Amino acid sequence: MISKKVSKALNEQINKEEFSSRLYLAMASWCQLNGYQGASDFLYTQSDEERMHMLKLVHYLTDRGGAVQYASMGPVPATGYKTLSDVFRKVLAHEEMISASINSLYGICNAEEDYTTAHYLQWYINEQIEEESTARGILDKITLAGDQKGGLFMIDKELSAINLAKKAAAGTGTTPAT
Ligand code: FEO
Repeated sequence: MISKKVSKALNEQINKEEFSSRLYLAMASWCQLNGYQGASDFLYTQSDEERMHMLKLVHYLTDRGGAVQYASMGPVPATGYKTLSDVFRKVLAHEEMISASINSLYGICNAEEDYTTAHYLQWYINEQIEEESTARGILDKITLAGDQKGGLFMIDKELSAINLAKKAAAGTGTTPAT
């Protein structure tokens, strides 16, 4: 059985992961509307990954006898993006917030002596290293390109390739219909 504190913290994380999925959907839509098809495909895939992050925690909590409580969610706040750089700055900031949240959850598990959940969270800790590094790498490239359309076009193509490689590695085939 899982403690109330750990259950509460897991539920909070479940809701953050769901919010992440919705946030990246909003970003994907903005990118598509603004001509960045590669970035859009990348963010749609990212949104699916966040839902998978949420589902893993839902199954884990339920398997341990905890009740899942879905919070009501308001509208995704930031849809008025200005540039592609703006989008990925916000992706990085969001991932940094999620990393801090996972670390805090890990701390609660240890304080509660729930080493099983702490061990389970190791996957998320490793995943956050990759998520932050990917977002930072993309942002660096966009910053190097500045406002040059040619550079942004190439970055968008690269995001398309990254997305396809990710989907191939995950065995999920082509990008979702856009
Ligand atoms: Fe589920 Fe991107 O953190």
